[in-house]
Amino acid sequence: MSNIDSINHVTGKSVYLDDIPVQKGTLHAVVFGSPVAHGKIIDINYSNAQALPGIERIITCKDIPGENQIGGIISDETLFAEDYVHFHGQPIALIVAEDEQAARKALKLIDINIEEKEAITDPRMAKQKGLFLIPPRTFRMGNISGSWKDCEYIFEGKVESGGQEHLYLETQGAYAYNGENGSIKVHSSTQGPTIVQKTVAKVLGIPMNCIEVDVARIGGGFGGKEDQATAFAVMVSLASYLLKKPVKLSLHRSDDMRMTGKRHPYSSDFRIGLSEEYKILAFQTTMYQNGGAAADLSPAIMERTLFHSTNAYFIPNTEVTVYSCKTNLPPNTAFRGFGAPQGMFVIESAIAMAANELHIPARVIQKINLLQENNEFQYGQIAKEVNIGICYQKVEELYDVGKIEKEIKEFNKSNDLIKRGMAIMPVCFGVSFTNTRMNQARALVHIYQDGSVGISTGAIEMGQGVNTKLIQIASKIFSININRIKLESTNTSRVANTSPTAASSGADLNGNALIIACNGLMERLRATAADMLSCAPDEIKIQDETVFRGRKKTHILWEKLVETAFFSRVSLSENGHYATPVINFDKSVEKGHPFAYHVYGTAIITVTLDCLRGTYEIDDVLIVHDFGNSMNPDIDKGQVEGGVVMGIGWMTMEEVLFDNYGKLITNNLSTYKVPDIYSVPKVLECHALKTKGPKLAILKSKAIGEPPFMYGIGAFFAIQNAIKAFNPKYKLEYNAPLTPEKVLMRLYNAY
Ligand code: MTE
Ligand code: MOS
Repeated sequence: MSNIDSINHVTGKSVYLDDIPVQKGTLHAVVFGSPVAHGKIIDINYSNAQALPGIERIITCKDIPGENQIGGIISDETLFAEDYVHFHGQPIALIVAEDEQAARKALKLIDINIEEKEAITDPRMAKQKGLFLIPPRTFRMGNISGSWKDCEYIFEGKVESGGQEHLYLETQGAYAYNGENGSIKVHSSTQGPTIVQKTVAKVLGIPMNCIEVDVARIGGGFGGKEDQATAFAVMVSLASYLLKKPVKLSLHRSDDMRMTGKRHPYSSDFRIGLSEEYKILAFQTTMYQNGGAAADLSPAIMERTLFHSTNAYFIPNTEVTVYSCKTNLPPNTAFRGFGAPQGMFVIESAIAMAANELHIPARVIQKINLLQENNEFQYGQIAKEVNIGICYQKVEELYDVGKIEKEIKEFNKSNDLIKRGMAIMPVCFGVSFTNTRMNQARALVHIYQDGSVGISTGAIEMGQGVNTKLIQIASKIFSININRIKLESTNTSRVANTSPTAASSGADLNGNALIIACNGLMERLRATAADMLSCAPDEIKIQDETVFRGRKKTHILWEKLVETAFFSRVSLSENGHYATPVINFDKSVEKGHPFAYHVYGTAIITVTLDCLRGTYEIDDVLIVHDFGNSMNPDIDKGQVEGGVVMGIGWMTMEEVLFDNYGKLITNNLSTYKVPDIYSVPKVLECHALKTKGPKLAILKSKAIGEPPFMYGIGAFFAIQNAIKAFNPKYKLEYNAPLTPEKVLMRLYNAY
């Protein structure tokens, strides 16, 4: 089944924030952000700005009736700066005007005097100065210090990975207006409506039940709207609360890029020890996460880095430490993979380095260290239904890796200025929020008296297709045509206390809640049918919109059944609640069983490098992926393709640059290069591994949103191998993104 939104998307009928018709008298807001990355505010003069025609009000921290606090995990982030600013673009005030133009004019008339302080942009520098967002955390297994002496080979290195701009097509924005008795309705482009609701309540000093957050869909989130949508939703809510008028805000692209956090850059040191047979015996790493000026989701992202720091390998002795460093960048945040890619890039770099030094292909080391059934993860969970070995073997066989290697060797022998390279990237990704208590969801289902169905859940549709999957679930359980089912907007008054749609768990959590609700309704409908047929309810089956008694088709159709139930005063509404069973985690010992299951897969990536220009093309991405029993292969394939391209972008071309004063240099699409149709792989094939799928995955269909992102990491190593083919003296460096500029320097050792 194709995505229910496809036609509306391509014909422009889908409603995003900016398509919501605004009420008469709606005001428009623009954010006044800090012009420096770090400093003490001496004085601000708003009078010239305020005097401009059309300016309704300029709102600052002084106008906040509740708390000036929007920090999610840690209360360390103000909505509007008070005495100090900590990053370039940090919101200081909100200009509310009759139209956006007036507000933008006023922006330029604000006089601000700031005593500038040193801006820290480098996490290692922050570490030196003792600037942390939270204390460091360490995961350990085995006996690291005792294991080095058993290692035949030990290698040490340094790894850098850069930030990444989310570049959701729809920028951050929100629209708020007043209802009766001080209530507020907020349309927000957010992945987390409840976080918005809770934070608006806190800042306004009113109860959560006064605030209704509604999201029809968002134009992409990729993690960038899990936490960072909140500030803007709170701003318009505050403005409409103070002014008693509707207020709308929608960021311009360059403001969005400047003001919002991105993927965390990481800087890491590693040490890896191998036996004579290339078994990895020990792995130690210290990572410095560039958290930015406030915690945002950094603590949770740090946690997932720790969980995935050994990727798909079993390593008996490990010690992994992450420092979450406080710098003067916008607070970095969730981004597809949520810290896992950064961790996996380090272990893959360590393996690549060992392979290079030992003059063997990396895959030799990868293969003999792959996780096996019943191995223990460093966080204590025992690995079950492990499919990484099968995926790796299958991808090698299916695409004949030996032949690819040979072809590349021959190609490189007969071409001086064009070289090819290959790498293999295995992935193991844990599914569930690592914070156990977030793994819950609810669904509200109404069957209307005409037999049509309305579904509300906490899931946010952001292009990943969760709404389609939810409709499939209801259609399957009720055994009715999908045309009878409508997916409602995500609304905090209908479904409360939602977890954000993130961690690739949107379909698992909300889908399971939906199954529970639908099953509850089915039970009642079967009882009604049994009454109608004077038989026992367990004789009744409903299939293809028809009631069956035993195997016998009856004359009762879905519509008649629903109508009869309604006339018999049977409730046709049901709320389902789901909480993932089994999972737990004890932070005091850093051990537990945090994941419902793991997703596995392996990709082969080949590239062609132009050694005169330093430019490259991604030729093939060939994948064997464990989807479980995919409930929607079309959507899942789309997620694989999008994820892979995004991962390649992070590793090869997307370069977030700040100047020494902490100002973003790459603040628009002419200076920040994202993958386009010309840079996607020429061939992207994904073979589905046939497995029955884990019980805890929705209908045994595994989560798909994030894992494929990490296949993109292979592109880095494939390019690096091609560089080596041209310049054997090139000393490998693990510094991503590997932009054509860097490639060119490495080809000629000019660095
Ligand atoms: N796909 C599209 N088209 N747009 C998005 O914003 N976000 C990704 C992934 N795929 C995203 C996407 C991220 S970061 C996550 S966590 C998951 O989708 C969230 O959706 P799910 O939990 O329903 O998989
Ligand atoms: Mo995704 S980074 O968990 O929103």
